Amino acid sequence: MSRYLALVPAAGSGSRFGGPSPKQYLQLNNRPLMWHTLQVLSQVAAISEVAVVISPADEWFDDFDWDLPKLRVYRVGGASRAESVRNGLQAMSADAQDWVLVHDAARCCLSVTAVERLIATLADDPVGGILALPVADTVKRADAEERISATVPRQGLWLAQTPQMFRAGLLGSALHAAEAADVTDEASAIEHYGHKPRLVDGDAQNFKVTYPRDLALARAILASRKD
Ligand code: C5P
Repeated sequence: MSRYLALVPAAGSGSRFGGPSPKQYLQLNNRPLMWHTLQVLSQVAAISEVAVVISPADEWFDDFDWDLPKLRVYRVGGASRAESVRNGLQAMSADAQDWVLVHDAARCCLSVTAVERLIATLADDPVGGILALPVADTVKRADAEERISATVPRQGLWLAQTPQMFRAGLLGSALHAAEAADVTDEASAIEHYGHKPRLVDGDAQNFKVTYPRDLALARAILASRKD
């Protein structure tokens, strides 16, 4: 039977965030930010392993008590997110038919309900898919001076989130084939490979902590869940 495996690439340096340590290790409600991410994935009953991929040069992971029984750590991070995911897939020795849910370390306000919705919707899907949100705002294209050069019709536009869920075999082949292409998520690699991933309703709270100003919102969401 196919397993459900979570894979969290966490080998980035968080250059947009700044700070002395990568943002995934920042303290948030008494735990490293990434602990909250890993904890939600661990709570999903269908998921049997939560693999985190860190850089071989990571100096922070061992400083914390993770205390999550499904967690496995692989020190095989690469130069890009795609490379970290590819290396992680190999290290965790997934079977081709296993479902792999790739999730950003910095989306720490993910909910169990959203992951369960993704798994249930894609159970019989031939390709796989991702959590995403239909664009609600009016979208503008900027010119080089940051003046509006066009209004882009928002109909049919979605914002990609994670987890992004694909069979390990297909994902590995797609990432391998996309090696030279600039893929910023797993779905783009699958698209390059000729498939059409399914869009599954995501969750506005499942945003990526990218800038220091995002921390207050993440803190508030996590604190509200504790109550
Ligand atoms: O930079 P970005 O926000 O797109 O990174 C998304 C995820 O990919 C983060 O969890 C980051 O740690 C991870 N990543 C990685 N290896 C890299 C670059 C990014 O695992 N070389």
